[in-house]
Amino acid sequence: MTNAMQIRLPATIDSLTPLTVKAREPMQGEVLIRVRACSLNYHDYAVVSGALNPKDGLIPLSDAAGEVLAVGSDVTSFKVGDRVLSTFYPMWADGQPDFVGFATVPGDGVDGYAQEFATVPASSLTPMPKSYSYEEGATLPCAGVTAWRALVVNGNIKPGETVLIQGSGGVSTFAVQIAKKAGAIVIATSSSDEKLERLKVLGADHLINYRSEPNWGEAAANLTDQGGVDHVVEVGGPGTLPQSIRAIRPGGHIALIGILTGREGAVPTAELMRKQGRLVGLTVGSRQHQLDFIKACEATDMRPVIDSIFPLMELSSAFNKLVSGSHFGKICITL
Ligand SMILES: NC(=O)c1ccc[n+]([C@@H]2O[C@H](COP(=O)([O-])OP(=O)(O)OC[C@H]3O[C@@H](n4cnc5c(N)ncnc54)[C@H](OP(=O)(O)O)[C@@H]3O)[C@@H](O)[C@H]2O)c1
Repeated sequence: MTNAMQIRLPATIDSLTPLTVKAREPMQGEVLIRVRACSLNYHDYAVVSGALNPKDGLIPLSDAAGEVLAVGSDVTSFKVGDRVLSTFYPMWADGQPDFVGFATVPGDGVDGYAQEFATVPASSLTPMPKSYSYEEGATLPCAGVTAWRALVVNGNIKPGETVLIQGSGGVSTFAVQIAKKAGAIVIATSSSDEKLERLKVLGADHLINYRSEPNWGEAAANLTDQGGVDHVVEVGGPGTLPQSIRAIRPGGHIALIGILTGREGAVPTAELMRKQGRLVGLTVGSRQHQLDFIKACEATDMRPVIDSIFPLMELSSAFNKLVSGSHFGKICITL
């Protein structure tokens, strides 16, 4: 029976192909997991659609939650039956990043988790939040850790600060919740009034439709009494960055995360400089960031927002849903 999906070239969402994988016994330092759920990220879409030149036969998906089936002889960090999460950068344990790119990232540089069994280094896994379902757990490694690092690690967010969030996807729905748990004020933007109402239920204090208000950066700044917001969770990229720069207060922070509007473009550098803004690029985070985020999820009972769950064999449909932009929060895969 087929129990995995692979990319066949030329890569498109619809050329994802089922295959059968067998479990491999773990060697020293390794753990065999039964993958129970994955979540989709825009990065996975860039891989499966061919934009990141995947190799033929690559098994996609960076994020997984699963159950330990067996451990290598020297592994003491996990035991059979433990519920675990993957990490986006299996080799980045802690400290500052000293690498560039995605060579070791599951589902990009190496095989990912769109498969029933995976044998991986124990050091590349973390425990799961205790009360989470596998689907909830699978949303944390990329989107959740990115939002955590943007606001808490790099942003050092404080109660009473104002955070501007773009859209209602995976990173943004985590960012709304993290900001509210930190005692911040959230200005949420979306293309859809209906999604704005859902962002309000999630905790957003102010709502702006970025389609009907193209000057949303200025509109956000006008909602504050200090000339702009303290933090922007910038998932749009070059098409949204000018408005984000407009939105920040003097000395404000923009967490540069996304590429939804493209990979390069004109940036009003003089305005950023004049405002003494802090523009900080980041890609996900380390295993230690994930461990810290998991503690925060447990302590605050934060629940990921799951839009929909697809069976693994319907992975193409799940990606088509992601591309449609109709989702709110995370799209998950169940195995
Ligand atoms: N640097 C990193 O470490 C990192 C980690 C994770 C993700 N990312 C990047 O961050 C971006 C978002 O990722 P995601 O997983 O959260 O994606 P996602 O779940 O697919 O969310 C996309 C959402 O963004 C909103 N959006 C789309 N175009 C927009 C625009 N022009 N202006 C404002 N909002 C827009 C839409 O929300 P509405 O429908 O509400 O308008 C859309 O549903 C992607 O580019 C991804 O590659 C980067």
